[in-house]
Amino acid sequence: MMPTLIFLALFLLGLFLALRPLLGPKEPFPEPPRREELLRELEVLKEEVQNLEGEEKKLALARVVELERALEGWRPPKPRPFNPWPVALALGVVVLLGVGLWRYTLPRLPGETTVTARAEARELKALQDKAKRTGEVADLLAWGRRAYELKALDQAAEAYLEVLKKDPRNVEAVRRVGILLFMGGRPDEAEMFLEIAQHADPKAAEGWLFLGNIYFQKGQTQEAIAAWEKYLEVGGEARERVEGLIAMARAQAQGGKDGKSVYQARCAACHGAEAQGGLGPRLRGNPILKAPEAVREIVLKGRGQMPAVPLDEGELKALLDYLSSL
Ligand code: HEC
Repeated sequence: MMPTLIFLALFLLGLFLALRPLLGPKEPFPEPPRREELLRELEVLKEEVQNLEGEEKKLALARVVELERALEGWRPPKPRPFNPWPVALALGVVVLLGVGLWRYTLPRLPGETTVTARAEARELKALQDKAKRTGEVADLLAWGRRAYELKALDQAAEAYLEVLKKDPRNVEAVRRVGILLFMGGRPDEAEMFLEIAQHADPKAAEGWLFLGNIYFQKGQTQEAIAAWEKYLEVGGEARERVEGLIAMARAQAQGGKDGKSVYQARCAACHGAEAQGGLGPRLRGNPILKAPEAVREIVLKGRGQMPAVPLDEGELKALLDYLSSL
């Protein structure tokens, strides 16, 4: 959508620039005002000279000569001939932009997708007709698979449910119905179907992906991570995306706070990177760590040479957990 709009904006701008010289008459090129002033002065002087006498007349005449000399060689500017090049250049740019617009954005406009979608719809219709005619599981599966690929989810659901009627133990159908239920906003039923399917066929990566999504949506972070890890284990294709999901879930499980990094950021400068002590006393092995309430008090309020270190509840909890593990 965005590229289309940008292209369109550029196209209109180019069109405007190309047509601008043709809109309305061109202003004549303004003459330098100095010349006009000189001309006017000359006229006035020439009139006055006739009424002057003696020394004054001489001076005025001298000024007339000076002015005429200054104006010498000056001719009123000729109207400039029409220069077609800028217009041709701008029109060329417009044409190029137009071609670019047509070439790169039109395929994404509804027109072309309907054409391709029409071919796919015809193919799907043929599969559907065949499946309905024969009622064979294999034909129903072929129809369901293609519909699922083309994201014709209603048809996919219809086909796979039909498979389940004929063969309730068909794992692909159980799994796909589970996925379709999840996509249809029914996570509880989806979970049931997917758990059965993944139990029967643990090698099916897509089932683990969706099962992980369901668990995550329900707030069962650890189960979600386990399911996504299975997805990676069996060689699911969306590796990077799922690794990202796992990292995100892990961070969320820790409340986004990691005690060690809080320590390094807020305490290590004085107590040492290994908590071995420095400006502040040694903390590793320090008996005071057995009394987290006391540590909390010292951190939040400060003590003696140690300033108070303001931390939020999540950071503080993570930090205390970390310190008690030292
Ligand atoms: C600016 C340096 C500084 C920073 C930053 C600092 N401390 Fe301290 N800390 C000290 C000093 C100095 C003492 C000794 C205070 C005293 O008793 O006079 C101390 C004392 C303590 C004590 C008491 C130790 C004992 O044996 O009595 C604890 C526990 C402690 N700090 C934990 C922390 C933690 C946790 C952080 C990070 C959130 C932290 N400190 C950040 C300087 C610092």
